[in-house]
Amino acid sequence: MKLRSLASAALLGMSAVKGIDLDLGSDDSIKKAASEVAYGMVKYYTGNNTGDVPGNLPDPYYWWEAGAMFGSLVDYWYYTGDETYNEITKQAMLFQVGPNNDYMPPNQSRTLGNDDQAFWGLAALQAAEVNFPSPPDDQPDWLALAQAVVHTQIPRWDNSTCGGGLKWQIFTFNNGYNYKNTISNGCFFNMAARLAKYTGNQTYAEWATRAFEWTQNVGLMNERWHFFDGSDDLINCTRVNHIQWSYNAGVYLLGAATMWNITESDVWRQRTQGILEGTSVFFKDNTNVMFEVACEPNGKCDVDQRSFKAYLARWMAATTKVAPWTRDYIMPKLQASATNAALQCSGGDDGKQCGLRWTNAAAFDGSVGVGEQMSALEVIQANLIDKVSGPLTNRTGGRSRGDNNAGSQSETTPLKFNEITTGDKAGAGILTAFALAAICGGAWWLVH
Ligand SMILES: *[C@@H]1O[C@H](CO)[C@@H](O)[C@H](O)[C@H]1NC(C)=O
Ligand SMILES: *[C@@H]1O[C@H](CO)[C@@H](O)[C@H](O)[C@H]1NC(C)=O
Ligand SMILES: *[C@@H]1O[C@H](CO)[C@@H](O)[C@H](O)[C@H]1NC(C)=O
Ligand SMILES: *[C@@H]1O[C@H](CO)[C@@H](O)[C@H](O)[C@H]1NC(C)=O
Ligand SMILES: *[C@@H]1O[C@H](CO)[C@@H](O)[C@H](O)[C@H]1NC(C)=O
Ligand SMILES: *[C@@H]1O[C@H](CO)[C@@H](O)[C@H](O)[C@H]1NC(C)=O
Ligand SMILES: *[C@@H]1O[C@H](CO)[C@@H](O)[C@H](O)[C@H]1NC(C)=O
Repeated sequence: MKLRSLASAALLGMSAVKGIDLDLGSDDSIKKAASEVAYGMVKYYTGNNTGDVPGNLPDPYYWWEAGAMFGSLVDYWYYTGDETYNEITKQAMLFQVGPNNDYMPPNQSRTLGNDDQAFWGLAALQAAEVNFPSPPDDQPDWLALAQAVVHTQIPRWDNSTCGGGLKWQIFTFNNGYNYKNTISNGCFFNMAARLAKYTGNQTYAEWATRAFEWTQNVGLMNERWHFFDGSDDLINCTRVNHIQWSYNAGVYLLGAATMWNITESDVWRQRTQGILEGTSVFFKDNTNVMFEVACEPNGKCDVDQRSFKAYLARWMAATTKVAPWTRDYIMPKLQASATNAALQCSGGDDGKQCGLRWTNAAAFDGSVGVGEQMSALEVIQANLIDKVSGPLTNRTGGRSRGDNNAGSQSETTPLKFNEITTGDKAGAGILTAFALAAICGGAWWLVH
């Protein structure tokens, strides 16, 4: 297919397609590029087809990534004003709320971790912060949905091991119940900080501070402000899996910047600055081009990991709004990364599918999917950040309705689960063994 189209292009004397056009000096060019990449992403979505389930992506994409994708479409509207995807976004985000309006739909309970739930909650929180068109009056508003996610997670804070923290999994029968992972705690921290900002409610700020300090104390973040994947509560978190993922740095960065915005304190400024400098591990040498250091060089990024750069880009851009002094550090990175990402969007039948590796933009790397599209989309549209207003609050025009009791039903109406088989229970033990192997194995990129 590709060869033939190249051949016919040559016959017609045309030059081969080489990526989408992007001129960072022109808002229209950025919007057009974003629209092409968004179109390429939404092509994967089947949830609005007759007979399909709104909010779900087809295999191999997990439910959480669909939540992340709708977050990127909320961003897309925020940055470009293009309403093309608003209806499917709203439909999906309301269809997946579950019986208690807290993003815990029973269909997903077999893979539902705190982080999975949070990626949908984050999409709702973004929607609240930018006045994304509200749901109908008889349905929960974006703010209430985001609150529900945090409110269901507060009682899961687990002091019984590791001095606190959230476990990765919510249900004992799922693989990874013993793992306390950084992204779950990071999402909780990020959302609590932003809810504190939006509502002005100090309770959220206290939880944000607690989650941050726990991460630090347990060693999931080190003195160089690097974030590691997680630890195991069966060993009371005495050893840490040292793999570094870009989304962990990103989620803590925006949370810390938001806490600085609320407090204007030196301690949060120092934390924000430290995390920001710590993100340098995700930028290739001196190029300012973002890469997923743990898996791009060795070609082992799985389907989830191929989307992680989307969130670092998303949260770096948002950071410039709440902590404006970070802007000069961040923008050159978003610019260089977007330029290379656009060049990498040069594959597939239409010559516009985005590849994974922006560090080698000269040649399409053949890796395509929702994660690749979403990452390119977020980093390209992030270059419009100076043209949009910062996150709203309920004192500065944010219209989303909140609910202090959101998420409280979950404790009183237990969900019914499918029967758990012995195989699943054995699986939990096997995964823990893998996690420990990774902990002992160490990670080379730490020492460079
Ligand atoms: C689903 O949404 C996409 C993007 O908005 C649109 O192109 C497509 O026609 C929709 N399909 C249906 C069946 O509504
Ligand atoms: C749950 O799965 C059933 C069966 O596939 C489907 O009909 C229903 O719409 C799904 N609900 C959600 C919220 O995904
Ligand atoms: C865990 O400790 C925190 C204080 O660090 C406290 O606020 C919280 O209520 C405790 N949680 C439980 C379930 O005991
Ligand atoms: C487990 O770790 C926490 C904090 O890291 C510590 O306070 C606690 O004493 C440890 N518990 C045991 C049994 O060692
Ligand atoms: C904002 O939300 C807080 C907490 O829910 C509430 O106390 C306050 O009255 C709200 N302010 C406005 C202007 O709505
Ligand atoms: C602040 O948030 C907490 C937790 O959601 C809630 O219980 C409390 O009522 C809120 N306080 C105010 C003043 O809104
Ligand atoms: C806090 O964030 C808001 C929203 O972006 C911004 O307008 C304000 O200037 C920030 N505060 C400080 C002290 O920078």
